[in-house]
Amino acid sequence: MFTQKLDALTDYKNSVSMASEILKNGGIVAVPTETVYGLCASAYSDSAIKSVFDAKGRPQDNPLIVHISNLDMLNYVARDIPDIAYKCAKEFWPGPFTMILPRGEKIAESVSAGLDTVAVRFPSEKTICDIITESGLPLAAPSANTSGKPSPTSAQHVISDLDGKIDAVVMGKDCSVGVESTVVSLVGETPRLLRPGAVTPKKLRLVLGDLVIDDAVLNQLKSGEKASSPGMKYKHYAPKTDAFLVSGCSNGFVNFVNSKDDCAAVCFDEEYYGINVPKISYGSKYDELSLAQNVFSVLRKVDTLGVKQVYIHAPSKDGVGLAVYNRLIRACAFRVIEL
Ligand code: TXA
Ligand code: MG
Repeated sequence: MFTQKLDALTDYKNSVSMASEILKNGGIVAVPTETVYGLCASAYSDSAIKSVFDAKGRPQDNPLIVHISNLDMLNYVARDIPDIAYKCAKEFWPGPFTMILPRGEKIAESVSAGLDTVAVRFPSEKTICDIITESGLPLAAPSANTSGKPSPTSAQHVISDLDGKIDAVVMGKDCSVGVESTVVSLVGETPRLLRPGAVTPKKLRLVLGDLVIDDAVLNQLKSGEKASSPGMKYKHYAPKTDAFLVSGCSNGFVNFVNSKDDCAAVCFDEEYYGINVPKISYGSKYDELSLAQNVFSVLRKVDTLGVKQVYIHAPSKDGVGLAVYNRLIRACAFRVIEL
């Protein structure tokens, strides 16, 4: 398949209308959002959804998020919407926040991979919102990467994974948030955080009051345990290089990596000049937003360093740091070295 490259930076209007046309005809298109690039398909079309699963090599039991561009669309996507959902919408939409609700009848069953619930998000990035509005379709969109690889935060990441497998890529700016949306389930007794993102537990509790942090946010599922969010059980985000998360102070981390052979370090800006092995910084240790913005592109760069092992300095689990930690612990297959 030939993948069209639609240059939204130089020809925005045309890119939006071409993307909308392809989607209305049942095609699949990668589009930038504020979190990561998404691989979009009509949420009404089982066959378009199947193409998304095929292009990504995504496990069939891992459901997709449906994206909307105004609050009225929520009624098409979900049913029995509780008041708390409207409160969340008011506070966190448009933005990097996804809620799980009972699934509306019109949404293709394959979107939810057999569940009776649906994940919904109203993004803040203009490009995807304009495409939803112009096509008139709620768009199901997982991250536009090959399943298992780091999520794509630039058009180039999408092309390197999916060129020749999808109809088009809307080539826009790099993503400003850099990690995927916060996912909260509102279908159980108490709201439950399934995936941390830029909307932090502290912000969520101000609106929700009670919030349970699902075990899978920081821990590996035990064998046989059922995942509240199917996506949490898969190996994710991993570079090809053998990766380990290292937890400890800056001095400890620098001494640790300098004592190792045939390895690279993913470190903070503050540590960069003290390290004698191949190294990449993913931002300042004092600035979790910078770490979030860079984490996925750094995980992709690790494989270009030509080393056997990579040691990644763990961020704090505070604020947006929790989201970065959640992605990195998966990239490292839950192997954490405590210094
Ligand atoms: O920021 C984002 O959320 C990006 C952009 C493109 O919007 N999308 C994204 O999609 O990260 P994806 O497919 O990579 O991750 C969706 C996550 C998965 O962990 C999936 O299991 C979970 O949401 N999910 C989707 N529907 C669900 C449902 N009905 N119940 C529980 N978890 C659900
Ligand atoms: Mg993903």
